[in-house]
Amino acid sequence: MTDQTLLILGASGDLTARLLLPGLGKLLELGGAKDIALVGSGMDDWDDERWRARVRESFGRDEEIDARYLRADVTDGDDLTRLLDACHGEIVIFFALPPSVTAKACAALRDVGLPPGTRLVLEKPFGVDEKTAHALNALLVQLVPEARIHRVDHFLGKSTVLNILGLRFANRIFEPVLTNQHVESVDIVFDEDLGLESRAGYYDGAGALVDMIQSHLLQILAMIAMDAPPSLDAHEFRDSKAQVLRATHVWGDDPRTASRRARYTAGTIGERSLPSYADEPGVDAARGTETLAEVVLAVDTWRWAGVPFRLRSGKAVGNRRKEAVVTFKPAPWVPTGLTGPDRPDRLRILFSPDRLELDLDINGPGDPFVLDPVTLGSDFGPGALPPYGEVLRGVLEDDPTLSVRGDTAEMCWHIVQPVIDAWRAGEVPLQEYPAGSAGPSDSLLPG
Ligand code: BG6
Repeated sequence: MTDQTLLILGASGDLTARLLLPGLGKLLELGGAKDIALVGSGMDDWDDERWRARVRESFGRDEEIDARYLRADVTDGDDLTRLLDACHGEIVIFFALPPSVTAKACAALRDVGLPPGTRLVLEKPFGVDEKTAHALNALLVQLVPEARIHRVDHFLGKSTVLNILGLRFANRIFEPVLTNQHVESVDIVFDEDLGLESRAGYYDGAGALVDMIQSHLLQILAMIAMDAPPSLDAHEFRDSKAQVLRATHVWGDDPRTASRRARYTAGTIGERSLPSYADEPGVDAARGTETLAEVVLAVDTWRWAGVPFRLRSGKAVGNRRKEAVVTFKPAPWVPTGLTGPDRPDRLRILFSPDRLELDLDINGPGDPFVLDPVTLGSDFGPGALPPYGEVLRGVLEDDPTLSVRGDTAEMCWHIVQPVIDAWRAGEVPLQEYPAGSAGPSDSLLPG
């Protein structure tokens, strides 16, 4: 008998198969979690055997698994009671469900009551706007204390994102220059060459702004802009992130000049032909969902005031680019006699592949007084655990350090809410770009 049960609501769904179970499988394989029972639940009429086969397939190995499947309506109190009765030991409930169903399931759980020590794990987006996120948080804390609520942002489990901590806070050389005195701009870009990938049911209601910027990219901004926490315990680390996010808002408070939205039309990427987003099955073209979003943000602190943070994410973009780039101001004076390319110094944190690069100008080979560009770089490879495994480790160990705290989740909505409102009011036109191109031509980011 194990002493911990992971109860997965939405067990027959795509997220469970693609990310949750493979992450868990790797975590168990590496001994990062004690044995765990898995109770899966969904609307599909599966039996235990089918669920076990799904788990084995996602784990990528054949092993005895303490796993049961119960068909249930997770918004129904009696069904939820049945599910809880099937669990033993500490219970961790993972809501692998759309936000609206998660909210209903939580409301039903409040009436059912939860055994002490239960943890809740929620997927982004947390709510669908600032108001619903606030209401969801208010409901969640009626179920369990905040420290037992894990809001998963798998980017916080990516090794390159976590490495921002080591890079910044374990070295002398970067911290003193990561300030508005030396930094010109910070770009955080996540352009994918993938299109919709049959995810219309979720994506068409979210779009690039909510899917990527409101969640993942703001977390990266927080990691780059926050002040060093005295320790990496859940309180200190999350306080530092929250503090900098509280100071973050749309540049000039004007989404018309500080945001762009666009969606892809038909095109090709390599060998693949993509239909226009509007023609993808399940998409309601009239909704005007963007597949590419850009937002420029200001961080009003002594350290960052005046430095634009440009966040961008797009689907079906020709040149796949996933990186944070810190561009430094020019050297205040280059001695007369040194000539050559005038390239700004840049620190690049690449998310895929995991890599760090520093662009500098040096006296290279050839004429010693002519500057040459050079890039110092290092690949450091992905972490031993996939991002979901890393995040799940914290969940199963009851350590919420890598989970998004409730106030922070609301703050992230607060930051993008003016953009959502301006877009809804039609103040920023929805542009188009062919799949496989570089995106709209009037990008707010330098080319
Ligand atoms: C997910 C988004 O959270 O992150 C996807 O919903 C996106 O649209 C994905 O493709 C990117 O993350 P990763 O880890 O697959 O690069």
